[in-house]
Formats: sequence, C-alpha cells, structure tokens
Amino acid sequence: MSTPTVATKEFQELSTLAILNIRELVTMDSKYGVPRVGSQMNDLGIVHKAAVVIHKDTIIFVGTMKEFDREFSHRDFPIIINGEHRLVTPGFVDPHTHIIFDGTRENELQMKLSGMSYLDILNSGEGILKTVKATREASISKLVENGHDILDRMLEYGTTTIETKSGYGLTVEDEIKSLKTMKILDKEHPIEIIPTFLGAHAIPPEYAGRSDDYVDLIISNMLPLIKEQNLAQFCDVFCEKGIFSVPQTRKILQAAQDFGLDIQIHIDEIVDTNGAQLAADLNAVQTGHLLKSNDTGLRAMAEKQVVATLLPGTPFCMMLREYAPARKMIEIGIPIALATDLNPNCWTESMQMILALACYKMKMNPAEALTASTINAAFALRRHDDVGSIEVGKQADLVLFDVPNHNYLPYQFGVNHVLKVIKKGDIVVDFE
Ligand code: NIG
Ligand code: FE
Repeated sequence: MSTPTVATKEFQELSTLAILNIRELVTMDSKYGVPRVGSQMNDLGIVHKAAVVIHKDTIIFVGTMKEFDREFSHRDFPIIINGEHRLVTPGFVDPHTHIIFDGTRENELQMKLSGMSYLDILNSGEGILKTVKATREASISKLVENGHDILDRMLEYGTTTIETKSGYGLTVEDEIKSLKTMKILDKEHPIEIIPTFLGAHAIPPEYAGRSDDYVDLIISNMLPLIKEQNLAQFCDVFCEKGIFSVPQTRKILQAAQDFGLDIQIHIDEIVDTNGAQLAADLNAVQTGHLLKSNDTGLRAMAEKQVVATLLPGTPFCMMLREYAPARKMIEIGIPIALATDLNPNCWTESMQMILALACYKMKMNPAEALTASTINAAFALRRHDDVGSIEVGKQADLVLFDVPNHNYLPYQFGVNHVLKVIKKGDIVVDFE
C-alpha cells in the first residue's frame, strides 16, 4: 500500500484505539472489487510494519507505521495494542452454519465407524430427525442458551459475523421459534447473525411419504409469516436425492424470491442432481457442499458469480475421501467462500480448523483460504460493504493472532492462535 488511507481530521481528534507495529496486516483491500476470484485470491493486500486506527465502531486509518507517524505524531491514544510479531486479519465471516438446535449426536461417531453413511443414519431415524425431536421439545430460552455457548466459542476463535439457519423445527411454530432465537442472539451477542429460513431441511416424520404436502406448507404457511415478521434474509433448501427434489427446490426458492428473500441451496453433496446449474438458473447468492457438481453447472455458476461455499468439515466428519474440487472451481473463476457448516453432525466453531482442512484436504493455499473466509464469505452474505476487509470506513471487526504470518494459521492446526478479537471497535476477546 503506497499512501495511507485516512478519514477526516475531525475523526482523528476523537480516535480511541490504535494497533501499532503490526508485523503482517492482511487488509483484503478492494483493489480487485468483490468477490476475489482466481489468482486474485492470492493477493491479501498485505502491509508489513503496519498500523490500524479505529474510532468507535469504524476503521479510520490503515497504513504503514511511517505513514501513521506522519499523520498522528505525538497523539496519545487511550488504547494502544502492540502488533509486534503478530498477524492482524479481518474477523472471520462464517457464511453457512446451523447453530439453532438442542441435543447432541456423539453416538453417530460409532455408527459412522461401523460403516453407516449419512443417509443410512438419517433413514434409521437418527441424524437430522433426532435433532428435530430435541429441538421441538426445547424452549426458546434453552435454544438461546445453547446459541450463546456456541457463539462464545466462535468469537474466541476469531469469528465476528455468521449466517445461521433454522431447519430443526419443521413445523410452522418451531421454525418461527428458531428464527426468533436468532433475533434474540443477534441482539444479545457481539457476533452479528444473518438469519436463513431452512424449513426444507428434511421431510418431517408426520409428512413421510407426502413431501409435496410439506412443500405446500412451507410455501403457503411458513414463508408468508416469515416475510410478515421479517425473520430471514435468506431461504435455503437441502436439495438431495431422497430429501428435496430439484422441482420441489425450484418451487420453494421461487416462492421465497417472490417474498423478497435472497436464496441459497445445499447442492450436490451426495449425488449430482445438477444442483450447480439450478443455482445458476435461479440466481442463488451462494451454495453449500458441491462435492459432486458437474463442470457445465460449475461454469454456469462462474458466469453468474454464484458463490460456492465449501464446507470441508462435513466430508471430514463423514469420513469421506472426497472433498469439493476447490482447485478446479478456482480455475473456472467461481467465487469461493469457506464455512464451518456447524451442526450436530459436524460440530466445530473454529474457522481456523476449516482453513487447515481447506489446505490439507482441498489443496487451497493459505492465502486463498483466508480470502474465502473473510471478504468472499462477506460477499456470500452480501455484507461486503461493511465487513470482510480492513479498510477505511468499514466496520472495525478484526483479529490479532499470535503468529508471525498468515501461512501459520492453517500450518499449526488444532490450537487457537487468537490473542484479541475486536468487534465494532470493542475488544470482545482478550487472551493477553
Ligand atoms: O449441511 N446436509 C444438510 N444439512 C446439514 C447437516 C445437518 C445435520 O446432519 O444435522 C449439512 O451438512
Ligand atoms: Fe449445511
């Protein structure tokens, strides 16, 4: 970065927090526009020996220490954070999670070890349906309590914005309960929550054998209420052989679009249902999984710039050999994001772990993985004007890591490298 970017002098008078002498600052600046695709994912907009100044909840200066000294000489900041030997990045954005549930499923680990597949487990009445039973029985305050526990850990691991989904209620009442839980959590917790309605997550037991009737319930009863009460930004569907078919998915998502919701889809996880083409045809904002997507569909996604949100924690927990073909997708020019997919089948709060899996299992390099978990993930939620990069005027969401450079984040895995997390200008996690 050649010239410092500083807001107005008036702002400087009121400056409250400065991070100085940062060894490596990853800005993800917007020189390429958003999202970053192909080789742009490798350029993190790095500044060495850098400084960041924050006023209230906004970033007002990003530059080198030399530039900082010229702009702010002899100015006393009430809070100065030492960035020596450290890495600073934008807060992680986790754009695909399922955190609203009750109960756990650790028993399924043994089922997986004995060779049962994800669908075998679901068809035996365990899996999603077990979580649905527990979530229906849970009060809203229990779901809020569970959500706080998860969000606290996410924040400690450097995540400052998430998307999360309903989908363990599957009745009008329980889906609304789940979406209301998100609203409460968004108010009470520092992490910002983008809410998604995933009524089409599984066929509820009482609709077994008549899934079209359940699709009608979603369209005629759930969507209008969600719209009326402004409970979701996105609508999502688990489009998979034996779950929701392509025509059912199309019907639900077109209805959701008519209600003004953005759309996303779980596609091609177990079988190629031509989900990538469907996502492109429907102008979905983002898609999840994509292990089996065909090349024609992937090219259509690239053309429409539909985000492929890759979820390597899920094949890891399902003990699969196969992961989404990240290298091919990057080559084709699809915008790639990364997410935890946190759910009772794949339970991790750690985007650092997901970065490691992206590198070790999908052969993404650390820079690509970091791009996919910050600015591109913000794009997948259409929040890139506010979060996902460290630039003047943006919301001050950033993480200070106790590592010398970004390669270190996935390299030393299974530990938490976070020292401090700053959300909207407040230090919300401090391990120093
Ligand atoms: O994205 N595939 C569908 N939904 C979740 C898993 C939900 C569950 O198993 O509870 C996913 O992996
Ligand atoms: Fe998911």
